[in-house]
Amino acid sequence: MTNGDGGLAVRARNFQLRIGVDGTPFAGWPDRDLLAAMEAAGAKGVGVGCRGGGCGRCRVRVVSGEYTTGKMTRNHVSVEEEKNGYGLACRIYPRSDLVVIWEPLQPGTPR
Ligand code: FES
Repeated sequence: MTNGDGGLAVRARNFQLRIGVDGTPFAGWPDRDLLAAMEAAGAKGVGVGCRGGGCGRCRVRVVSGEYTTGKMTRNHVSVEEEKNGYGLACRIYPRSDLVVIWEPLQPGTPR
C-alpha cells in the first residue's frame, strides 16, 4: 500500500508498551495484542502459553493506559478482575501507551 506521495504508507500510530514501570519500552499497535507485540520486539516479562486467551499464563494487571480486550476465558480473569485492570496479554489491544505487570494466578487459587 502506498500513500499519496508514492512512499510506503505509515502504519497507524504505535504506542510505547512496558512490562513493569521501569521496563524497557517496546512498540505496540491497536491491531496487535500485547503479547504478540512483546514477542515481536524480543522483549520478556510476561509468560507465554497458548496465545489464544485460554491458558491464563499471560495474565497481567494493567497499571496505566487504555486498551480493549478480545474474547477470553473467565477461568483466569473474572468480570470483577477485568473491571480492576486485569486481563490476558494475548487478548489486550493497546489504545494508548501501556504499563502492565505480569500477575499469573498461583496454583490452587480459588476461582
Ligand atoms: S497465552 Fe494463554 S491465555 Fe494468553
